[in-house]
Order: sequence, then structure tokens, then C-alpha cells
Amino acid sequence: MSVNSRFGRPVTDSADLVVHGRDAMPGAAAREVVVPGDKSVSHRALLAALLPTAPPVVTIAGANLGGAVRALLPAMRALGWSVEGDRTALVVRRADRPVAQTPRPHPTGGRWPDGVPYVQTEGSSAAARLLIGVLAGTGVDAVVDGDDVLRHRPMDWVVEPLVALGAVIDHLGEPGRLPVRVRGKVWRSGSVELLVGSAQARSAVLLAAVAARLPVVIKHPVRSRDHTERMVAAFGARLTESAHELRYDGGGDEVPGFFDVPADPSLAAYPVAARLLWSCEGETTVPGVCLNPTRLGFFEVLREAGADIRYTDERTGATGERVGSIVVRGGLNGVESVRVVDAAVLHSLIDEVPLLAAVAARLPGRSWIGCAEELRFKETDRLDTTARMVTAFGGRVEPAADGLTVVGGLPLRAGTVPGFEDHRVAMAAATLAMAVPGTTRVTGGACHRTSFPGFVEVQRHVGASVTEEARC
Ligand code: S3P
Repeated sequence: MSVNSRFGRPVTDSADLVVHGRDAMPGAAAREVVVPGDKSVSHRALLAALLPTAPPVVTIAGANLGGAVRALLPAMRALGWSVEGDRTALVVRRADRPVAQTPRPHPTGGRWPDGVPYVQTEGSSAAARLLIGVLAGTGVDAVVDGDDVLRHRPMDWVVEPLVALGAVIDHLGEPGRLPVRVRGKVWRSGSVELLVGSAQARSAVLLAAVAARLPVVIKHPVRSRDHTERMVAAFGARLTESAHELRYDGGGDEVPGFFDVPADPSLAAYPVAARLLWSCEGETTVPGVCLNPTRLGFFEVLREAGADIRYTDERTGATGERVGSIVVRGGLNGVESVRVVDAAVLHSLIDEVPLLAAVAARLPGRSWIGCAEELRFKETDRLDTTARMVTAFGGRVEPAADGLTVVGGLPLRAGTVPGFEDHRVAMAAATLAMAVPGTTRVTGGACHRTSFPGFVEVQRHVGASVTEEARC
């Protein structure tokens, strides 16, 4: 048994990903690759069904059904909604009675409050933080908890601004962490200042305000992903935005009965990266992807560095999202290095940092991915785990307090590479391994299911030889 360095989480017997890497792609590149629905939009669509103006039945087509989104389903059942469905669509309904969840042991050995629903969001920070916002906006009394890893991640980013707006939220364990009890609704209109760029924090406050029809001004340091803003604006809520400020006037909104979730650009990044690393002929299209500019940093940074990546068939979807195809041709010839020096750009690729670092390890020059201090608070300390993952291939990554220097041009070798039970790091490792000749075992790589069910099938479709194997 190994131990995840940051949180002391035991890494047990989940399966590994075994990749047989090659210098070049075998045969022609796949012309079209389909990836699952967007995780962030899926979370928001599910939570929209809990808002006061939601109709009794909400259907969500194309939702991401990875572990992070699934984590929200029992939580919603515990609050009195039923969620049924399959890969095609989820149907959310107000249920006759809630389905209670079995509480985890109390963190201080105390008792859970009697008669208050206990809501478990497993390891999903988006599920926990956004749900806290919805509960604080609707005035539903509930305890929100998470798994051992999530219990160590910051919740004060969300709790403090909500408390400033009048919500009553108690930390039941460590200060600033889960579990929390939300037991009083936001009521004090005014301005709150967020100290972190987290989209989850801004979304939680906005969802609370919209649910409570409370006018607010949210000051924030950076414009990170804006799915919640687009969604509530599509519902009719009036928002005014400037670079570091979001104003909601307290006016009405109406949640529709149908959502169509576009494909996830963060997931499209893996087959696109595999193709670029192999430098193959022809072009590959990933259709129906969410082309929200606050999510396209991975593609934009590589495009600016010289990669041939384009967007086509652009249209606006029902929840205010741009949707279209990502088209990639050729490889990384002529791309020297990548550079991220702007906080908004970093946030537009925040989940792709491990993958961008892996790609940068194959470039000849020295790359810098900066403004990334928030990465230290993900499922793992991702600056640290990304550096260790690339180093295991023989690459060199120097972590700084707020970013990573990737020294390119070094020969990489296959072998055993840690995935740290962190889906983004494990998938980045498996993708880099596809283009490194020899056999690589990414330990714990099966955790890709957190965000990318079908990762193995999609990468095989692009031409990779990758299998999931029990840990030996
Ligand atoms: C998310 C926001 C980002 C991202 C996460 C999903 C969201 O997290 O990393 O995968 O759905 O709002 P932060 O808000 O913590 O930056």
C-alpha cells in the first residue's frame, strides 16, 4: 500500500493502466472522436433542478456519468429528489420521500445532528461546494460531507462569502473543512469579495443569490469558467459583468425542463494531445464540444505555440454555451515550448495542467506554466504530483510555489509511473506513455473514471494500445 503524499490517503488496489507506447501512430488517425459530456455543466444542470423555479421534472441529456457527477446523485436523493436514467439522459424529479444516506464516522467522534439530512458528496469538490451554495440559497437544513480527501480540501472559500450574506453554516469538524451544516439562508444583500479564482466559489455564491433572489455583487480576482453565469442568464436572471465583478440584481429566473450537456473540452484534450504527440497524417475532429472560451486554454496555448487546432460548426446551445467541433491536424513540429503567465489563461486550462506539462516534456524548449497556486488544493497537490509523474518518465519538471518549469528535449523512457489516484495526473501519464516506446504501467490509472468514463476506449480509437489491468 502506498500513501498519497498530501492527504495521507491510502492508495489501495484499484487497477492500473498499461500502455504500449510507439513513436508513431499505427495506421491512419481516427477521423472523429466522441468524448463524454462536460462535468461542470452536468453538475450545474443537476443542481439547477433543486432551485425554487425548477419544474417538477428536469431531463438532462448527455450528462457526464463519471464518479464526480455520480457523487451528486445519492446526495440529491437524500434531499428528496429522485434521479434515474442512463447514458442518454438523466431524469430528476421531486420524490415522495428522501432516501437517507448512511453517515460516515463523525470527524471529531461527535454525534450528527438529529433529524437533519446527511448528504455525502464523496470526492467531488464541485458537488460539495455548489450544493452548499444551493442549500444556503434555498434555506434547506442539511449536513454536507465528503470522503477523506475532500474533508481536507478548503471549503472556507465558499462558506465565508455565504456567511457574509447572512447564511448560517457550522463547520462540524476542522475549521474551514467538511463536514458543514447549512442551517440558515442568505438574506443580507451586498458585496462579497472572493480571494481565490475558484469558479466553484463564485458559482456557489451566485447559485445561493439566485435561489434566494438576493441582489449581490461578487468581486473576484479572475474570470474562471463561467458556466453558472451563462446558465442563470439563460434562465432569465439579469447579470452585469466586468473584469473582476459580477452583479446579480435579484430578479427572476426560470429553470427549463430540459438540458443538453455539450461534450467536455477537458476530456477532448486527451485524444487531441495523443494525436499531436504522434504527429500523424490527416485530421481528427471532436464534435459537439463546449467551446466556452473560459475552458479552451489548453488548445489556445498550443495553438499560439504553433499547433494546428481549429474550431468549426460553432453555435450557441440552450444554456448559453458555445458548442462546436475541435479539429486537429499534424503534430508538434515547430512547437518550441509553451508559456502560461496570465491567471485567466491558467484558469481556462486548470484541469489540463498535468497534460500540458506532459506535452511540454516532449517539446525541445523550456516551458513555464504559472499562476497555478490553486493546483496545490486539488485532489492531490497537482504541482507536486505532475512534476513527479513527468520525472518518472525521465523528464525534468521543477515545481515553484505557483507553477511548473518543464525542461524539454530530454529523452523519455517507459516504465512504472505513479498516477497518484488523481484522475487528471493518471490520464496525462497514460497519454504521454502512448508516444513513449515501450510498456508503461500507470499505477492506479483506473481513477480516470472520476471524470472520463470511456478514456481507454477513446484513446484506443485514436490508435493507442492501452488496457486496464489489476494491480500486480
Ligand atoms: C470546476 C472548477 C474548477 C475545476 C473543477 C471543476 C467547476 O475547480 O478544476 O474540475 O465545475 O466549477 P476550482 O473552482 O476549484 O478552480
